[in-house]
Amino acid sequence: MTGMERGKNVAENDRMPKLKIIRQQQVNSTNTVVKQWAEAGAPEGTVLLADSQSAGRGRLGRTFYSPDGTGLYMSILLRPNLSVQQALFITTAAAAAAAEAIEQVSGEKVGIKWVNDIFIREKKVCGILTESAMDAASGNLRYAVLGIGVNLTPPENGFPEELQEIATALMPWGTDVGLLREQLVKEILERFFAYYPALTDMPFFESYRSRCFVLGRRVRLIGHGSVREAAVIDLDHSFGLRVRLDDGSEQTVMTGEISLRL
Ligand code: BTN
Repeated sequence: MTGMERGKNVAENDRMPKLKIIRQQQVNSTNTVVKQWAEAGAPEGTVLLADSQSAGRGRLGRTFYSPDGTGLYMSILLRPNLSVQQALFITTAAAAAAAEAIEQVSGEKVGIKWVNDIFIREKKVCGILTESAMDAASGNLRYAVLGIGVNLTPPENGFPEELQEIATALMPWGTDVGLLREQLVKEILERFFAYYPALTDMPFFESYRSRCFVLGRRVRLIGHGSVREAAVIDLDHSFGLRVRLDDGSEQTVMTGEISLRL
């Protein structure tokens, strides 16, 4: 394990907490490991990068496919002064930061599928999983672990069948992604920590909204035991999705997920 202090590979930024970047070859899940470190008292700004994950996790109990050497798997420990409800700002700021960073290093046009999937060429290239622990007395976060996974290249034999229709990678198979991974880590951290000190002011709102490609589209709303079709009207300033149902009524959706497959 090697630790790298801020300044060695991430540019100085007055608003960044002191970062300690730790690299490991294989872990079960970087989020799981960083949560253990958080419980043991590790400071804000502890970052874990792994070459592969044996049990990478996604939202809604899903797995995140994390083969060796083809992806970026990173978790960041945060100790923000936020309520549990405000934790959504961490995820949405990270989505904006990751989308901007991917555009910067790849030149690809990047879209955000509400609430936290990053797409290129109509397929998912990056997922974000924020997990938090609450202080029961105050209702504030004790800590949050922000996990970001990016497919840099496809695995040697392609994505598993169940992912082929929905997942893609930034670069073709065979690309040496060592430098790309370093650049992307740096860009994501710098952009996220530029937003972080004022998360509740949402300085990333327009960056997020302008890339949120579901606005104006028909979608399926999946959650709370039901699946309904709706037209997406807009994003509100709480990152809720304003939708019009087929009976003409309008609602704001705050949780669950959407599908573009009708
Ligand atoms: C999703 O697509 O639903 C979220 C995927 C999040 C994947 C990242 S990879 C690094 C971190 N460790 C995990 O186990 N998950 C996140």
